[in-house]
Amino acid sequence: MHCERKITDDLYWIGASDRRLSLFEGVYHVPDGVSYNAYLLLGEKTALLDTADKAVAGQFLENLEAALSGRALDYIIVNHMEPDHAAMLAEVKRRWPGAVIVGNAKTLAMIGRFFGDTLAEGALSVKEGDEIDLGGHVLTFVMAPMVHWPEVMVTYDKTARTLFSADAFGTFGALSGNLFMDETDFSRRYLDEARRYYANIVGKYGPSVTTLLKKASALPIDMICPLHGPIWRQNIGTIVDKYAKWAAYEPEDRAVMIACASIYGNTQNAADILAARLAERGVRDIVMYDVSVKHPSVIVAEAFRCSHLVFAAPTYNAGVFVTMETVLNDIAAHGLQNRDVAFIENGSWAPMSGKLMPAMMEKLKNIRVIAPPVTVASAVTEDCAETLDKLAETIAASL
Ligand code: FEO
Repeated sequence: MHCERKITDDLYWIGASDRRLSLFEGVYHVPDGVSYNAYLLLGEKTALLDTADKAVAGQFLENLEAALSGRALDYIIVNHMEPDHAAMLAEVKRRWPGAVIVGNAKTLAMIGRFFGDTLAEGALSVKEGDEIDLGGHVLTFVMAPMVHWPEVMVTYDKTARTLFSADAFGTFGALSGNLFMDETDFSRRYLDEARRYYANIVGKYGPSVTTLLKKASALPIDMICPLHGPIWRQNIGTIVDKYAKWAAYEPEDRAVMIACASIYGNTQNAADILAARLAERGVRDIVMYDVSVKHPSVIVAEAFRCSHLVFAAPTYNAGVFVTMETVLNDIAAHGLQNRDVAFIENGSWAPMSGKLMPAMMEKLKNIRVIAPPVTVASAVTEDCAETLDKLAETIAASL
C-alpha cells in the first residue's frame, strides 16, 4: 500500500526506508536503517526529484503513482546518479515514457554507463543557473560536483524556497513517521549518524562542500529536502553550521578520543591509565574505542568531532596492528586536518608502531603531534606510567 507524505500542498515525499540493510554501500552498518528520499513536485507540470534504491522499489513506485493521482509525469530530475537514488530511473521511464529526464552533461553520460545509451535519449541537459518553469514552481540548478560524485547537482525551487540537496544534509537512520527534523530530537536521534554519514560518505570532499555552502548561502532557503533522513524546515542553521565545520575539517568539540588496539590487554592498560590521568585533570567526555570491535566508520566520525586524538596500538608483523592500520588508512583517505594527535606503541622486541602510525598521517594537513610516542615494551612499567601521566598533562594543557 502506498505511504507517500504531503510536505506542502504541492510537494510530496515519496521515498521509503530500509531497516533490514546490514551494510550501506556494502561497508557501513546502519543499525537504525536508512531512508531513500524522493520527492514529487506538482505544478502545472509535474517533476520527480530523484528515484530510490532498488531495495525499496515497490514502495517507491506505489508512492509515486499515488502522489501523481493519475496525472502525467513530465520531468525526472536526476540530482545524483548513485544507485541508492537512481536505480529506478529506467523503470520510471518505462512506466512514464513521456517524462523528460533532466540532468547535467555528466549525469547524462553516467546514465549511459549505468543503463545503456538509449535511456538518456531526449533528455534535457542543464547547466548552472538554468531554469525550468513548471507553472507555479520555477526550478533552477546548482552544480555540486564531488558532493559526493562528480555529476551531483542540487535543485532549488525559487518559488517555494526549497533546496533539494542530494546527499548533502542527509543522515543515516530510517524515518520513523516523523518526516521533519523539527519533529525529532536531532541531537539525540540523528546527530551522531548525520556526522558518521557526512564524515564517511562526503568527508573527503570538504572543499566541494564548502563551495556548495557558499553557493547556497546566496539563496533564501526555507526548507532543505535531502536524499537521506528527515527534512529540515526549522533551525536550518543547526545543520548548516555543522556542515561548515565538518567541511573545513574543524573539530566540533574540544575533546579527546583514544582509539586503541590491544592483543593481550597491555596496550589497553596503557590507554586506560592515560584516560584515568586525563579524567583526574578534569578532562570531560573522553571517548575510548577498541578499534578491533568498533566499526572504522565510527572512529572516522569521532575523529571529525574531536580535537585531540590518541592512537594506541601494538606492533604486528613489523607493522601496525591490522585493525589500527585499517582505521588510520581510513582517516588518511578522508583527508582529516587540524588535529592534535599522540601515539602509544607496544612491541616486545622491536616496537615499530610508534614510528609507523605518525607516518601514516604525515600527509594530512595541520596534524600536530603533541608529544613523542609512548612506548610500552610488553607491559606497562612504572616508568611508562609516568610517561603516560606526562602525556595526559600535555593533552590537558592543550585542551
Ligand atoms: Fe546517497 Fe551518494 O548517494
